[in-house]
Amino acid sequence: MNGAGKSIVLIGMMGAGKSSVGRCLQGRTRLTLFDIDDIVISRFGTSIPEIFAKHGEDEFREVEAEVLRELRGSKQAIIVTGGGIVLRGENVAFLKRLGVVVWLDANAGILFERASRTKTRPLLQGQNSKEAFARMLQARLPLYARIAQIRVDTSALTDEEVAVAILSKLRKLGRNQRPGSPIPATT
Ligand code: S3P
Repeated sequence: MNGAGKSIVLIGMMGAGKSSVGRCLQGRTRLTLFDIDDIVISRFGTSIPEIFAKHGEDEFREVEAEVLRELRGSKQAIIVTGGGIVLRGENVAFLKRLGVVVWLDANAGILFERASRTKTRPLLQGQNSKEAFARMLQARLPLYARIAQIRVDTSALTDEEVAVAILSKLRKLGRNQRPGSPIPATT
């Protein structure tokens, strides 16, 4: 698959399609899929809205970071993260170490529309959720941009098309990589 044989780490804002694209990538590569939100949910034994309501966002972030750290020793895999994982500096180093970091992006309107289709995102349940989303996005964009080696604009693509685009960019990345040379960001 990709030259380095590393994991594929999907990052990006809520609504970017990380979980669905992760499943498409799993189908195409047969690699194991780790969805960090799902692992956190099983650890608490309840849904993300319930975790936020009962334990608070900080505790959610603690467990999210813990799950990420535990993935360190895993074999090559598809790793799907929650949109806020980049907020903790310590997570960034772990994400990079796990493999090739792929940022799924889309225009703000599309991200918000997709993210608000379900009620599973506590950070979007308050009033003025559109403004809150826009503020979060602005704060996070530079964080995603800083750590991603590959960016895919998913605005006009199906999940399968995004998966194909990722695999093609990974192949190019593998071909262009010389030992010791920095990996160029591709968009
Ligand atoms: C969050 C994104 C969610 C989930 C939690 C917090 C965020 O995951 O981890 O609700 O801070 O952006 P998705 O990105 O899969 O929606």
